[in-house]
Amino acid sequence: MEKLTITTVIHIYQYNELDSADKKLIDAAKSATTRSYSPYSKFAVGAAVRLSNNTVVTGSNQENAAYPSGLCAERITLFYANAQYPDQAVMTLAIAAHTKDGFLDNPIPPCGACRQVMLETEQRYHQQIRILLYGEKGIYLINGINGLLPLSFGASNMNV
Ligand code: THU
Repeated sequence: MEKLTITTVIHIYQYNELDSADKKLIDAAKSATTRSYSPYSKFAVGAAVRLSNNTVVTGSNQENAAYPSGLCAERITLFYANAQYPDQAVMTLAIAAHTKDGFLDNPIPPCGACRQVMLETEQRYHQQIRILLYGEKGIYLINGINGLLPLSFGASNMNV
């Protein structure tokens, strides 16, 4: 029997410890929550990406009475960024979430489907994404989707 242990390194920052580019991205993700359409969950998620040309694109979750028709903030943001700037790699992605009680204390973890789209985006651009998860008590930085989606399934598993 062999054992495989997979570890994830997460850097935890306070807002003031971030550089100005990351502060701006967190601010953009927080402000994007105000544009969320989430009448059903009342869980407003905002995301912001910085592209390789330094453009910042934001998005928020958009829900639908037919629940599965809605989409998470992260995928909306990534797909919009990729659709508008198909030649620009995604360098950093910031996520924040807001409820009726304010921003979450703990960092918002992206759902599995969004993690899979982050993986595809990294592979598409051959560029690791720095992922910033905002919490009022601390901000997680994960360098690359592998930290959030170990043992992932991607194109390389199909030899395509
Ligand atoms: N949601 C996101 O936008 N991102 C996440 O990472 C988790 C969940 C949205 C989907 C839905 O509109 C609401 O939050 C509740 O699940």
